[in-house]
Amino acid sequence: MRKTIAIILSVGAFALDGWAEDKVDFVKSIQSIFEARCVECHGLKKPKGELRMDTLEATLKGGESEEPVLVPGKSAESGIYKHISLPADHDDIMPSKGDPLTKEQIETIKKWIDEGANWPEGLVLISAKDRAAAKAAANRLPEPKIKEAPVSDAEKAAIAKLSSGEGIGDKSSAPLVMALAQNTKLIYANFRLVGKNVNDDNIVPLADITNLSELDLANTKITAKGLGYIKGNTNLTKLSLANTSVDDAALKQIEGLTNLMSLNLYNTKVTDAGLASLKDMKFLYKLYAWQSGVTEKGAAELKKALPNIDVNLGFKLAKVEPKKEEKKEAPKPKKEEPKPEKKKVKKEEAKQVSFNKKCPVSGKAVDPAKLFAINFCCDNCLGDFTKEPAKHIAKIKGPGNNKCPISGKDIDASKKFVIGFCCDNCLGDFTKEPAKHIAKVKK
Ligand code: HEC
Repeated sequence: MRKTIAIILSVGAFALDGWAEDKVDFVKSIQSIFEARCVECHGLKKPKGELRMDTLEATLKGGESEEPVLVPGKSAESGIYKHISLPADHDDIMPSKGDPLTKEQIETIKKWIDEGANWPEGLVLISAKDRAAAKAAANRLPEPKIKEAPVSDAEKAAIAKLSSGEGIGDKSSAPLVMALAQNTKLIYANFRLVGKNVNDDNIVPLADITNLSELDLANTKITAKGLGYIKGNTNLTKLSLANTSVDDAALKQIEGLTNLMSLNLYNTKVTDAGLASLKDMKFLYKLYAWQSGVTEKGAAELKKALPNIDVNLGFKLAKVEPKKEEKKEAPKPKKEEPKPEKKKVKKEEAKQVSFNKKCPVSGKAVDPAKLFAINFCCDNCLGDFTKEPAKHIAKIKGPGNNKCPISGKDIDASKKFVIGFCCDNCLGDFTKEPAKHIAKVKK
């Protein structure tokens, strides 16, 4: 007896479920198609063919032609269905750009119309594009209010002085000092390319450039003294001190640069203690701190003061120590000899030979000391990777792995895939986003 009741009940439940699922639900099945493929052109703003499809009322009203667009219960008379089911090469097919709707989507829309074109009252559609833009705007973090200042004579003179290369070299070795964009007084200054020639005294003129907004001091000989000259440049939003000897004490000089949004401390001597100088930089959202003394712990501590900050600590790089160059020990080689000598040195240095000869990021020649090695367990896995690096790269969690990324087994140190780079910057870029650059790794 009990059994019979149970069976009747379950059949009843099944029938109800089946019925509810059968009918096309607008919100679940139609809205996303219209928003992704129609409303961009048939929305509130400049609707194509004067047809708006963002509300039920507008859709029922139709467009510029006589043809009814939506006749609830009658798909065959509805312009929507007629246009979406035209042959792909027809002039009037909708959507008028991109792929035609899929068979499934067309069938769903047909069914929806034939079932009466239910559309929840008052529901207004927003194109997928606008929806994404609105979402991005809502997620956007506040930005500092930077006011462009009138360009003073001192500022003009400072820009001219820097651009002349005075004190650094000639004009050809001058740093780049230019407007950040058209129609702005904000200034971008880049010393990276003249890096090693730049010392603290060379950047004194920066103090007069009130509109200085982005500054790249990477690779320079800048120290705490130099940072002292820019501590008043409060319009700075972006600063790179990468590859400099900047340390915790030096960082203290710039603690007043509270409009900074991005700071690069890659390969500096800064440690967790130095991060205390950053805690009032409430717009600082990007901090590059890998190859520095900053640890996860320090980053977590800083995040308490600056919850939106993204601290990039990169991967721990397996350092490949180059062999000492023989050149230096040997007495000056005769002019005719350097060639074979050089070759020998190169070979010694490059115990690991990289797969590629050109840096996949810059295209320049590979420096045998800048390598990214991926270890495998056996020739098969190494072979699989070599055939299709892009397919497997997502499994690479940084260089110097100790489990095979393909099999998961322990590695055999002699089965390596080594990628060479021209410099630490490119190696760093690759390490940050291997998947982005892997396609460029060519023999
Ligand atoms: C890239 C823009 C674009 C997209 C996307 C687009 N349309 Fe159109 N649609 C047009 C233009 C333009 C017209 C005006 C007629 C013409 O010039 O071909 C039109 C006309 C129409 C008409 C006829 C209006 C009338 O006056 O009778 C219908 C119905 C229609 N579209 C339905 C759709 C549907 C349904 C979708 C989504 C599946 C869609 N359209 C997507 C551009 C677009």
